Amino acid sequence: MKLVIKMWKGLINKYKKYLPVKNDQKIITLNEGNTPLIKADWLSEKYDFDLYLKFEGANPSGSFKDRGMTLAVTKALEENSKAIICASTGNTSASAAAYGARSRLKTFVVVPKAKIAKGKLSQALIYGAQIIPIKGNFDKALEIVRKLTEKHALTLVNSLNPFRIEGQKTAAFEIADQLKNNELDILALPVGNAGNITAYWKGFKEYYNENIINYLPQMFGFQAAGSAAMVKEKIIKNPDTIATAIRIGNPVNRDKARNAMEESNGLFDSLTDEEIKEAHYLLASKEGVFVEPASATPVAGLIKLSKENKKDLTNKKIVAVLTGNGLKDQEFVLDNYSLPNSIEGDFKTVENFINI
Ligand code: F0G
Repeated sequence: MKLVIKMWKGLINKYKKYLPVKNDQKIITLNEGNTPLIKADWLSEKYDFDLYLKFEGANPSGSFKDRGMTLAVTKALEENSKAIICASTGNTSASAAAYGARSRLKTFVVVPKAKIAKGKLSQALIYGAQIIPIKGNFDKALEIVRKLTEKHALTLVNSLNPFRIEGQKTAAFEIADQLKNNELDILALPVGNAGNITAYWKGFKEYYNENIINYLPQMFGFQAAGSAAMVKEKIIKNPDTIATAIRIGNPVNRDKARNAMEESNGLFDSLTDEEIKEAHYLLASKEGVFVEPASATPVAGLIKLSKENKKDLTNKKIVAVLTGNGLKDQEFVLDNYSLPNSIEGDFKTVENFINI
C-alpha cells in the first residue's frame, strides 16, 4: 500500500488560487508558511488588549522572507534565470541563499559588512551563496544591486520583485484563516524597506474582496528611531539602530507602504533602541518567544501607544508580526546580558547553588 503522508506542502501549494503560478509549475519550496499564531497572555493582561503573535521565525530559514522567496525563486526558474541577487540587512540573504541552494541557481548576496547579525551571515555561507560584503549600508547595497540587474542577466530577489510581495501576502491569509470568525482590529509590524506592510495590506484586501473576511485591520508600522524614514517622511542618510534588520534609510516601497497605512487608517511610529530592547526581553522572558531585535519593534510600539494613551487599544484584537527568529542574533543577547560564572561540577555544589 502506498504510504499517504498528510503534510503541509508550503504556501504556494496552499494558496495557489491567489498566486501567479501555473498548474504544472515546478515549485521551489521548503514547506514555508503555516507559522504559529500565539496568544500573548502576559502582555494582553498587562496592557489590556487582546494580542496574538505571528511567529514568522518558525519559517525554514528563520524569517518571513521565505514566503516571498519561494515564489520569487520559483518564477526565476520558470523564466530560465541563471542567477539571483539581492542586497540585504541579513534575512533576505539567508532566505535567498536557502532557496538558491534548493533551486541550484547561483546566488549573490550584497550585505553591509559591519552591521549584519552573524547568524544570518553564517546561513548565507553554509547554504553556499556568494557573499559580497561592502563597506556601506543596505541602501548603498540595494542601489548597486539594482544597477547590476539592469545591466546583467541576474534576477533581483529584493522586495522590488513583485513575486516577493505576492508570496508574502499569504501571511495575511493565514492570520485570517487562523482567527476564523474573529475580526482583527490591528496588524502591527516592523517596517524597514516597507515591502512587508505592502504585502499584508494586499493580502487582507484580496481576502476582503473575495468575501472571505468582512473586516480590514488597521496597519500599524513601527520603525527604529534612528532609521525612521516613514515616520519622518524623509531619507535618513546614516540610519542607525541595534535592530540591524531594519537599519534602512531609504525604503524602496515607501509609496505603497504609505498608501497601506493611510487607506487602513493606520499609523507609523518610531521606538528608541531602549524601548525595542525592553520589548525583546519581555517577549522572551514573559511569553517564551525569542525573536531578533527588529521583530520586537511592533510590540515595543504597542506598549508605547498603550502607556502614552496615544490610542485606545483596550480590548482590541491585535496581531503583532514577529518577523525573525532570536537565534539569528545571539550576539545581541550575549553582549547585553551576562552569563553566570561557572562553578564546580559536583552534585553538592550544584545542589547548594540551586538553593530551593
Ligand atoms: N523584520 C526583519 C527581521 C527583517 O529582516 C526586515 C527586513 C524587516 C522586519 C522589515 O521588512 O523591509 O519588508 O519593511 N529585512 C530586509 C533584509 C531588508 O535584507 O533582510 P520590510
